[in-house]
Amino acid sequence: MIKLVVVVGRNRILTTNIINPPPTVVGCLLTSTQSQYHHSTSKSKMVSAKIAPSMLSSDFANLASEAQRMVNLGADWLHMDIMDGHFVPNLTIGAPVIESLRKHTKAYLDCHLMVTNPLDYVDAFGKAGASGFTFHVEVSKDNWQELVKQIKSKGMRPGVALKPGTPVEEVYPLLEGENCVEMVLVMTVEPGFGGQKFMPDTMSKVRTLREKYPNLDIEVDGGLGPSTIETAAAAGANCIVAGSSVFGAPEPGQVISLLRTSVNKAQKTG
Ligand code: DX5
Ligand code: ZN
Repeated sequence: MIKLVVVVGRNRILTTNIINPPPTVVGCLLTSTQSQYHHSTSKSKMVSAKIAPSMLSSDFANLASEAQRMVNLGADWLHMDIMDGHFVPNLTIGAPVIESLRKHTKAYLDCHLMVTNPLDYVDAFGKAGASGFTFHVEVSKDNWQELVKQIKSKGMRPGVALKPGTPVEEVYPLLEGENCVEMVLVMTVEPGFGGQKFMPDTMSKVRTLREKYPNLDIEVDGGLGPSTIETAAAAGANCIVAGSSVFGAPEPGQVISLLRTSVNKAQKTG
């Protein structure tokens, strides 16, 4: 149930309850409030740390219990890597797996679509229960407006990703106006595989974005762990994807908490 509060004139406030709202209504309400705060010109920082273990490094044969384990250890989001074997030379999971996992968890499913035709997948991911839908700018130059509109209409949160070689300016149009994305994912490795080495050169894009958009969710993905988090957090990243460093650790919960502490510290001092 949603309580809708409408301010009419100066002193009149109408409230009404919407019982069992359809996901599209929830999505629009959420995205409209989020958009306002992301595009605020205020310099006061409002971003919070989101630690997102990449389920690509989990035991796929036990996905539901792996997801639960990560949530219990403090994960904010679960990062789901969708690869089509075309945009990247690897093939992973699709909407049916998201749909199955959704039956076992209420967690925010942060879906990263490394696919050539993201528009073809919006409907299926919406129905499957994806929370965030992040597409790549390299394959969306001609249809990103339609993509964002459809993602929002399915109740998901739109994000845009860019590969290490893609200039940051390419995402600027997607961050302006009403029909905009709500997160930028700066790839810190070439997309396609877990366990690669973090590319520090990509940090200039994070710094530029943070300077321009103080309240934007900026996600980094690839090679993040205890030895690289300080660099990413200092540059301004607040959403941290980590696969091998979390799943390969003897105490994954300690890594999650270390990542969060670094982001929070950098946000306070930055
Ligand atoms: C790579 C994926 C990443 C990957 C990160 O294309 O987008 O999400 O799982 O894995 P690590 O943290 O091991 O580099
Ligand atoms: Zn990813």
